[in-house]
Amino acid sequence: MMSDDRSALQGSDTWSALTNAPLASVPNPKSKTENLKSPVGVAAIGCGYWGPNVIRNLAELPGFRLRAICDLSRERLEAIGRRYPAAWATTRYEELLGDPEIEAVYVATPVSTHYPLVRAALRSGKHVLVEKPLATSVEQGEELCELASSAGRTLMVGHTFVYSPPVRKVKELLDTDVLGQVFYIDIARVNLGLFQKDVSVLWDLAPHDLSILLYWLGCAPLDVSARGRSFVKDGLDDVAFLTLQFPNEVLAQLHVSWLAPSKLRRTTIVGSKRMVVYDDVEAVEKVKVFDRGVDRVPESFGEFQLTYRSGDVVSPKIENTEPLYLQCSHFLECIRTGCRPLTAGPDGVEIIRILAAAQRSMNNGGAIEPVQPRRRSC
Ligand SMILES: NC(=O)c1ccc[n+]([C@@H]2O[C@H](COP(=O)([O-])OP(=O)(O)OC[C@H]3O[C@@H](n4cnc5c(N)ncnc54)[C@H](O)[C@@H]3O)[C@@H](O)[C@H]2O)c1
Repeated sequence: MMSDDRSALQGSDTWSALTNAPLASVPNPKSKTENLKSPVGVAAIGCGYWGPNVIRNLAELPGFRLRAICDLSRERLEAIGRRYPAAWATTRYEELLGDPEIEAVYVATPVSTHYPLVRAALRSGKHVLVEKPLATSVEQGEELCELASSAGRTLMVGHTFVYSPPVRKVKELLDTDVLGQVFYIDIARVNLGLFQKDVSVLWDLAPHDLSILLYWLGCAPLDVSARGRSFVKDGLDDVAFLTLQFPNEVLAQLHVSWLAPSKLRRTTIVGSKRMVVYDDVEAVEKVKVFDRGVDRVPESFGEFQLTYRSGDVVSPKIENTEPLYLQCSHFLECIRTGCRPLTAGPDGVEIIRILAAAQRSMNNGGAIEPVQPRRRSC
């Protein structure tokens, strides 16, 4: 059964109030006002696996002018550069940082290079959108935020799923009390590969789900316990299991892995009224709302009988815009208006805090580690 539930969002606290703000409108290439605004010169650093998606979206957005692309690999540069002849190509990021026509850069390089590249770009006066995670330590992340703030430049982190229409639809269901009180959330993000060279699966994949959880629940977890293993390569865990305790007794379980037989991107939310399955691998019905649950019916004084409720399964209508396009569009709007991005530098630091706590827990055999968030407001 399909429905088109467009009930208003009801944000209440900081994270949700912030992230409930409507997304930047997607510029229409044919719009007269869009054509009157001068395009923002942008460059992309990193033409590996993810970079070409970034570059395609930057090139398609009417408000940006893709001026340059950069990669250490000449081969990658040539392969991608052929598709964008109007953009010049370089293996030295310093060259594009010295170009005054480039106002903004998108960094899509390995995680360990984010901090030095973003720092250099901000010091050169560029607005920066950097892939997740922002950096590899809280200290580095905080330094980058301070740098952006003192330079008056936009620093945004590519927590792409916060811009994803199905994730935003689930947020709407949560905020309009369709699910009731959230009991627990169970997430699996597993596949065969892609193994990263510089970070473990925790730092590679978990940022996606942590950013989704913070967006949905509007607050950071109180604590985390985590276990991980490296079965394939020494040193970098290829599988990790995290248990996160949020305020209001909400429990979340996250399984991330590069070592699984098939691709799973499946999240289950169990609430007191209804349950949701968000499956990002599904082509069409990515979100399904199950009118299922267990009710406690009083039987006699102090005694209850359990009744099982099994009603309709509804798949709400969801727009089909590419999340990366929406993210790049939001970056453009933040540069133009000076607005705070939905996934600004400090939000990126909050994710690093949780990753760092999970890493400490793994190093301590799964001990419960407190997360010290910047703000906690559930
Ligand atoms: N948002 C998402 O859904 C998503 C998906 C995949 C990857 N990512 C992120 O994108 C980033 C890149 O991941 P990837 O899988 O494309 O990695 P990759 O290794 O395939 O590509 C990285 C590229 O960066 C280049 N590079 C490295 N250092 C450089 C430097 N100093 N200057 C210029 N180029 C440099 C490399 O030569 C390589 O071509 C990571 O931060 C990753 O977390 C995000």
